[in-house]
Amino acid sequence: MPDDGNADINVNVREGLRGLTPARIATLYRRAPLLRPVDDPDQVWAMFERSSLVLTAWHGNELAGIARVLTDGVLYSYLCDLAVEPDLQRLGVGRTLIDAVLDRCAGTELVLRDSDISSSFYERLDFERVGNAWVREAESDR
Ligand SMILES: CC(C)(COP(=O)(O)OP(=O)(O)OC[C@H]1O[C@@H](n2cnc3c(N)ncnc32)[C@H](O)[C@@H]1OP(=O)(O)O)[C@@H](O)C(=O)NCCC(=O)NCCS
Repeated sequence: MPDDGNADINVNVREGLRGLTPARIATLYRRAPLLRPVDDPDQVWAMFERSSLVLTAWHGNELAGIARVLTDGVLYSYLCDLAVEPDLQRLGVGRTLIDAVLDRCAGTELVLRDSDISSSFYERLDFERVGNAWVREAESDR
């Protein structure tokens, strides 16, 4: 298991789904807070199982943070969700997870959508705001 423990607190970064459950993910997202549809456990698990890369940060046995990425491994990587346990925010966990994502997605361009509360975080981590992104919902009858 790789240890990317360069946070202000000591965390282990783990790759994969080990230690995660839909309930654990939903609790972290609600607490962070990260607004995502997490009421349906099957849907939450599908989001994670179908991701190219899932990284978790552990403070002892406590889930400190999660990052989830879709990547082609060549050109583009899309950071879907990053969330850190509120009691452990501002202690370097988010930076550690981003560093681990950048390491594993080296050579690709990492793209993400921010929120009002996280834009300063990405700015601090040397992300560049781009103005040429377009978004359209693919509507579903489900
Ligand atoms: C955004 C988030 C992931 C940051 O994680 P974190 O572990 O608290 O961030 P870190 O401690 O690694 O911070 C890294 C740097 O960014 C700064 N930073 C972190 N959050 C910040 C914020 N909201 N505003 C300004 N700076 C911020 C830190 O002070 C630190 O700066 P330093 O390099 O001078 O020490 C976390 O606050 C979170 O989970 N928020 C709720 C969910 C969310 O918005 N996720 C992002 C979705 S796009």
